[in-house]
Amino acid sequence: MRNRSLISINDYSKEEILRVLDLAGEFEQNPSQDILRGKVIATLFFEPSTRTRLSFESAVNRLGGKIIGFTDSSSSSATKGESLKDTIKTVSNYSDLIVMRHPIEGSARYASEVGMVPIVNAGDGANQHPTQTLLDLYSIRKTQGTLNNLNLFIVGDLKYGRTVHSLLMGMAHFNATFWFISPKELRIPNEYKLYLDQRGLKYHEHTDFRDIAGEADIIYMTRVQKERFSDPIEYEKTRSAYVLKSTMLEGTKSNLKILHPLPRVNEISTDVDDHDKAYYFTQALNGVYTRQAIISLILGLKN
Ligand code: CP
Repeated sequence: MRNRSLISINDYSKEEILRVLDLAGEFEQNPSQDILRGKVIATLFFEPSTRTRLSFESAVNRLGGKIIGFTDSSSSSATKGESLKDTIKTVSNYSDLIVMRHPIEGSARYASEVGMVPIVNAGDGANQHPTQTLLDLYSIRKTQGTLNNLNLFIVGDLKYGRTVHSLLMGMAHFNATFWFISPKELRIPNEYKLYLDQRGLKYHEHTDFRDIAGEADIIYMTRVQKERFSDPIEYEKTRSAYVLKSTMLEGTKSNLKILHPLPRVNEISTDVDDHDKAYYFTQALNGVYTRQAIISLILGLKN
């Protein structure tokens, strides 16, 4: 992982994924260490973020590093017409590692090809969000005691949800059975079904999950990605397709946990928040430890 960019979850082998999770567990036990002293991490967010940016920044601060960057591309010289290539080449001179979120699919891979320091993809359009996947896997393993042979329900916007696409690829290492629940307009794209077919993995597609929730070990709720729709009427048709309520958790498995990459709009009722199966806020906390692990492995500060 040393000096390598993290653009897709497939940039890491199964063994490397497990190393990140193990190290994240060590950071959870001891999150404040001075190992990043003298290092500068750039966070370039061309799209809004709360958790990803702030958990990266919290991770760096707790490890004694420094942060530079922008939270809004309108405050950068991109608004004057500067290319992504020029931006990345410039910021490469100012930092040891760049964390970047960008609306265009493939932008992070491109940045890794033109930059002089490792790039960590914090989300590129509807494509990938690999650090989210690593924190999701950490959360799943922590709550289930294993990553193997689980029934993973993924609910909501399976077409545009980048967290969905990278989670599917990450969990494909662990013989998951996938249950895809979405409106027909937001079905999981065929390329991802082909990915599972090629690996001999089982999946089911449904438009409702009330009668089958009893099968789930994990229910991964997702927001309908308003920002990816070209037609606002299409968004309005699907935005409230699923609202998880605490009554729907009656009769579910005792080990079931509800995950959500957040932000939530209305797809999980607030009456679920205090349920012992709700895990999404702790999941977001796990992002700090996981991102500490990712940064320190890429910078060669941990092995
Ligand atoms: N999960 C996630 O990417 O959240 P933010 O958009 O707030 O970073």
